[in-house]
Amino acid sequence: MKINFSKKIIKKINSKKVVISVIGLGYVGLPLCLALSKAKFKVFGIDNNAERIQLLKNKISYISTIKNSQIRNLDYKKFIPTNDFKEILNSDIIIICVPTPIDSRKKPNMKYVKNVVKQIDKYVKKFQTIIFECTSYPGTTEEYFLPIFKKKKFNVGKNIFLGYSPEREDPGNENYSILKNNLSKVVSGYSKNCRNIVKAIYEQVSNEVYSCNDIKTAEFTKLLENIYRSVNIGLINELHTVCKKMDINIFDAIKAAKTKPFGFNSFYPGPGVGGHCIPVDPYFLTYKAKQLGVNTKFIKLAGKINDNRPNEISKEILKYVKKHKLKKNILIMGITYKKNSDDLRESPILKVYNFLNKKIKNKILVCDPMLSNFTKKNLKNIKFVSLKELNSKKFFKRFDLCFIGSNHDTFNYKKITKNFKIIFDSRDSFDKLENKIKII
Ligand SMILES: NC(=O)c1ccc[n+]([C@@H]2O[C@H](COP(=O)([O-])OP(=O)(O)OC[C@H]3O[C@@H](n4cnc5c(N)ncnc54)[C@H](O)[C@@H]3O)[C@@H](O)[C@H]2O)c1
Repeated sequence: MKINFSKKIIKKINSKKVVISVIGLGYVGLPLCLALSKAKFKVFGIDNNAERIQLLKNKISYISTIKNSQIRNLDYKKFIPTNDFKEILNSDIIIICVPTPIDSRKKPNMKYVKNVVKQIDKYVKKFQTIIFECTSYPGTTEEYFLPIFKKKKFNVGKNIFLGYSPEREDPGNENYSILKNNLSKVVSGYSKNCRNIVKAIYEQVSNEVYSCNDIKTAEFTKLLENIYRSVNIGLINELHTVCKKMDINIFDAIKAAKTKPFGFNSFYPGPGVGGHCIPVDPYFLTYKAKQLGVNTKFIKLAGKINDNRPNEISKEILKYVKKHKLKKNILIMGITYKKNSDDLRESPILKVYNFLNKKIKNKILVCDPMLSNFTKKNLKNIKFVSLKELNSKKFFKRFDLCFIGSNHDTFNYKKITKNFKIIFDSRDSFDKLENKIKII
């Protein structure tokens, strides 16, 4: 009689008896560990960053959207942070959440994935399930993992299982998160058996799981979601440029358009795109499409428009400073790529800072309460001011203008309007429009 091992594994999942290794404990992997631990699984959190592992062992969070208390509440008999990849041997399910950036030529940089593949190759054994969660071009999961199984003469879908589930974590999103159990997940597998295991595991931490027919479709789905955002943001940024010439407030226009109950989804202009997803993911498809002889013109154009925003903004601020012969300092409020986040990756506001700092030396200061002291120490070339310093009226006198880069909730917008003569706002942060507020 042929044994269906996938059914046995699913039974083990449903009775919480599988051991899970999550590799890569960043914005995606750490919340996933927390969610799986909360769901009563034994979890090895594996990361090659020794400092991060030590912080977790000391029950300290290094991600601002995860509180220390959430880490302290973990059952450390069941959550084991480690940099020892040998724990893969003691795991039934291995989930991979390492970075997938692009290089300076906007080509996929797969070095982190390759490193993990090496470790999997060393320790993988029969009856394990490997799930890839990283964003990449369609075909990546099979391209990187099938050769390992082939070499070891494993039979995929029978005695080894492979799947892909794109990540949707949006750090700082107060409504949807894997930790709230309401982040719908897309799952896929190399075969039906593989897919059923992947589905069973994510059903433990998500209220809605959608199965794709194959891995490539699930990989493409993630790119589709982010390319959709990128091109719409590119479009609204272009429309914003047109609106300014026409003396139209685009934010009012969007408010009005939103009253249509169908056929319109709102996107907002801003200083450009940042983080590990929108400025990066579209190029994974562009790369693969090029190999297949397709030029993704639309995707590249949106990327170009979004990439150019920090430049446009910087030039507009500089022009104003020169025209009015301003001599005092400029304050950038919020330098992370989005509201209420500590994520600086690909931040367009950092690009505005670098541009202005080159042109107006030693006069650009930054206030960002979301950044930890540790991060600030590493940004040696930036002069930071604290929120506390902004409490003194005297302090404001040192500035000619401020630029709202990221509209964190911790900023006191009333105070900002009261104390700055000119405010350049890239985020529609103020309720009331006054002459001093310039939408940029
Ligand atoms: N950040 C997001 O909001 C987000 C959202 C959706 C999808 N994703 C995707 O999820 C994946 C992970 O992104 P992230 O934002 O969590 O990255 P991150 O940089 O926050 O974290 C990655 C972690 O992996 C660790 N790491 C790197 N190489 C490793 C290796 N060889 N072995 C073990 N650990 C290693 C790093 O030390 C780091 O702790 C990426 O593919 C990304 O595109 C990210």
